[in-house]
Amino acid sequence: MGKLHIVDHPLIQHKLTIMRDKHTGAKDFRVLLDEISMLMGYEVTRDFPLCDVNIETPMTHMTGKKIAGKKLAIVPILRAGLGMVDGLLKLLPVAKVGHIGLYRDPVTHTPVVYYCKLPTDIDERIVVVCDPMLATGGSASDAISMLKEKGCKNIRLMCLVSAPEGVSKVQNDHPDVEIFTAALDKELNENCYIVPGLGDAGDRLFGTK
Ligand code: PRP
Ligand code: URA
Repeated sequence: MGKLHIVDHPLIQHKLTIMRDKHTGAKDFRVLLDEISMLMGYEVTRDFPLCDVNIETPMTHMTGKKIAGKKLAIVPILRAGLGMVDGLLKLLPVAKVGHIGLYRDPVTHTPVVYYCKLPTDIDERIVVVCDPMLATGGSASDAISMLKEKGCKNIRLMCLVSAPEGVSKVQNDHPDVEIFTAALDKELNENCYIVPGLGDAGDRLFGTK
């Protein structure tokens, strides 16, 4: 079963509480999501392999460490995942960015694909899939399946708020994928929204409601 990491650093909890507040507007919501994504990126990349490099400091020669030549890709699930890309790119500036467009059917709550554009060598990359909300888990699971169909073998999922149902679905469908989330909330409501959650992440991010 894929490991669940709850990344609950005090700074992340503080910023997430402001995001959850219904009085927080789109501008602050965007800035906070960007900041939390960067902070979470620290944990998502914790196991990245290192290699030795010989350098010269102003004082002497030494062997330092650098991230080994592993190639990376960040894949946001549209729309709301877009809000996590810049924070991750600040840490991983050489990563390529792919996009998977999915929306939840309002009646069945199952995901519908409308866009997919990935780096051509995605199968050679460590892939970080990002989406703030892991509710039923349908969107994340389908996005991960699409990446596996392209040959991806090293995929991790980064979310902001998750429901137990979504975590279980991804763990069952993709036991090889580790999940990183800032919070594990209580449940889904009758419309498959996370409770307490933060509402509709895409609408809050882009001010569309
Ligand atoms: C939201 C969210 C996830 C999905 C989560 O997107 O950003 O992609 O719902 O729900 P699930 O775990 O039940 O699949 P939405 O479909 O609202 O699209 P949007 O980002 O374009 O608003
Ligand atoms: N999508 C969201 O944006 N929020 C939820 O709570 C569930 C799905």
